[in-house]
Amino acid sequence: MTGRSVLITGATSGIGLSAAAQLVEAGWDVWVAGRTMERATRAAAEVGGRALQLDVTDGASIAAAAATVDRLDALVNNAGIQPDFGVGLLDAGPDLFRQSYETNVFGVVAVTNALLPALRRSASPRIVNVSSGTASFGWSTGPNPQFDYEAAANNGGRFAVYRSSKAALNALTLYYAQALASEGFLVSALAPGARRTHLNPGMQGVGLNAARGGDPAEGAAGIVALLDLPADGPTGVLFSYDGTVAPW
Ligand SMILES: NC(=O)c1ccc[n+]([C@@H]2O[C@H](COP(=O)([O-])OP(=O)(O)OC[C@H]3O[C@@H](n4cnc5c(N)ncnc54)[C@H](OP(=O)(O)O)[C@@H]3O)[C@@H](O)[C@H]2O)c1
Repeated sequence: MTGRSVLITGATSGIGLSAAAQLVEAGWDVWVAGRTMERATRAAAEVGGRALQLDVTDGASIAAAAATVDRLDALVNNAGIQPDFGVGLLDAGPDLFRQSYETNVFGVVAVTNALLPALRRSASPRIVNVSSGTASFGWSTGPNPQFDYEAAANNGGRFAVYRSSKAALNALTLYYAQALASEGFLVSALAPGARRTHLNPGMQGVGLNAARGGDPAEGAAGIVALLDLPADGPTGVLFSYDGTVAPW
């Protein structure tokens, strides 16, 4: 047993749920945070964690969660949405961007800042932001080992709403790492790979990524590995799920 505590947002399905299961198995004390208490309770019962209602777009929900969680060793900002499936950049208006950023960017800032006091009670606090290999500029301008739909460098700006929100999350990962370095925090972003989840209809086998969605457990294992880094390990890095460093 490690006896360490972790809170995972959006832990009610997909990669987050699998990470919760793996971390419980590894002896972590896991807060299984869900957008609704009903789903959080069900997921927590499934994996053996503690249920917590946490809608990352709702200030009152975040404040209540922060008041409940006294001490934390790790925060996994995993909750995410992809509202632009089937909508091209040239047809996407600012409202779609706002919707995406509300969860994928502003939600991360709000939850992270609210939980900093709890994280500061840890001897070796960690934050993992679940990003996406689709957001890497390096992989968006050259071969992308995780997402090969058409050619990443020339895919017509596909999923720009979602991908730009995750690029903003990558930037925030770096800046949080720099802002919290003197306090001993390790802050990293994870590109979990293409996974069969509820993120978009393609990931469920309908449409673009039908043959490409892998087991969510493999992406979740990437989260576990980052939480197991030594206290003097790397910070401010975008990692692939396989532990290699990915280009921003
Ligand atoms: N699947 C992939 O191929 C892939 C690739 C790269 C990155 N990712 C990232 O991996 C993370 C997990 O996604 P997933 O693929 O596992 O998809 P998923 O199965 O749809 O899981 C997303 C989770 O986020 C939760 N969520 C959404 N909005 C929320 C909010 N406002 N407050 C709290 N929770 C909220 C969902 O809860 P509800 O079900 O209640 O809405 C769900 O539990 C996301 O950040 C995603 O962008 C996934």
